[in-house]
Amino acid sequence: MFAVYAESFSSDEPLTGLVVGERPDPTVPDGWTTVTVKAAALNHHDLWSLRGVGLKGEALPMILGCDAAGIDEAGNEVVVHAVISDPSWTGDETLDPRRSLLSERHQGTFADRVAVPRANVVPKPASLSFEEAACLPTAWLTAYRMLFVQGDLKAGDTVLVQGAGGGVATALITLARAGGLRVLATSRDEGKRAKALELGAHEVYESGARLPLKVDAVMETVGRATWTHSVRALRPGGSIVVSGTTSGPKLDDAELTRIFFLQLRVTGSTMGTRGELASLVNLLDATGVRPLIDRTLPMEEAADGFAAMAAGELFGKVVLTR
Ligand SMILES: NC(=O)c1ccc[n+]([C@@H]2O[C@H](COP(=O)([O-])OP(=O)(O)OC[C@H]3O[C@@H](n4cnc5c(N)ncnc54)[C@H](OP(=O)(O)O)[C@@H]3O)[C@@H](O)[C@H]2O)c1
Repeated sequence: MFAVYAESFSSDEPLTGLVVGERPDPTVPDGWTTVTVKAAALNHHDLWSLRGVGLKGEALPMILGCDAAGIDEAGNEVVVHAVISDPSWTGDETLDPRRSLLSERHQGTFADRVAVPRANVVPKPASLSFEEAACLPTAWLTAYRMLFVQGDLKAGDTVLVQGAGGGVATALITLARAGGLRVLATSRDEGKRAKALELGAHEVYESGARLPLKVDAVMETVGRATWTHSVRALRPGGSIVVSGTTSGPKLDDAELTRIFFLQLRVTGSTMGTRGELASLVNLLDATGVRPLIDRTLPMEEAADGFAAMAAGELFGKVVLTR
């Protein structure tokens, strides 16, 4: 079948290991099903995979892609949940130490078909297009859990979103606004700051700029480049929810003194549960809120989407269609 896959790793030139070609049809273990992919979305995770982060050499060649929306074996329109937990695991699957994401141990979604455990499909409402639904399983689910589960934020709270242009960041701005929060956002780029305002941010600032107020929580996916600013932006007792380190995980200063003196909390967040994905789908269906799509490309042109993401040119999601 047609597939977009990683053949090798390069930390400096990740696109050299990307192949648009053919791979065998998926093998379908007991209790699993196949989904015919109509749309899939690109995540920074796919770029990390090509850099050799989170993917082992012995797993190559590996079909990339965590996100998909498509049609299941019974003809239903579905969204694929990307977190694969051990069959014996019960409870929150993001806490399963043996969990993986599609495209880490099991073949990913940038293909004609993807195999997933039967429990990993969620009904897609007719109100969402396949392209919109394909944005939800990774970036949007991560944003949902960061804000409303790990961040425990409520209507009326004030939140700062760092690095406004990213897939997770645009989801954070949109969902925070839909949840009744006051939303501040930063970006390195003036054009992206203007777009963040259009998307629903109340106020935007250059990365690192002094803010006129302290916030209840910061949503962090950038890491090293924004960490100090994130810690300094918080009111006493506030919290940082961190789910990524795009600019690198090695901090110049972890700001530990400020963290203990102001009694700040730092909380990790990774993906979300199947139940949270179903709630996110319901939220979009009920509110009319939709993922911001930067561009839609036929899957054959996936390399162009990867290149735009590597260059940091995006504002919103890249969707690949079949
Ligand atoms: N833990 C999880 O479950 C999970 C799930 C999804 C994503 N993630 C992680 O979260 C991160 C974002 O993912 P994504 O798919 O949203 O990636 P993306 O679409 O490529 O977005 C990255 C954003 O980071 C900001 N950024 C990058 N370098 C920066 C720098 N030096 N200074 C300031 N801002 C910088 C940029 O914002 P501006 O250009 O606007 O400044 C950019 O828009 C990745 O590291 C990814 O691995 C984790």
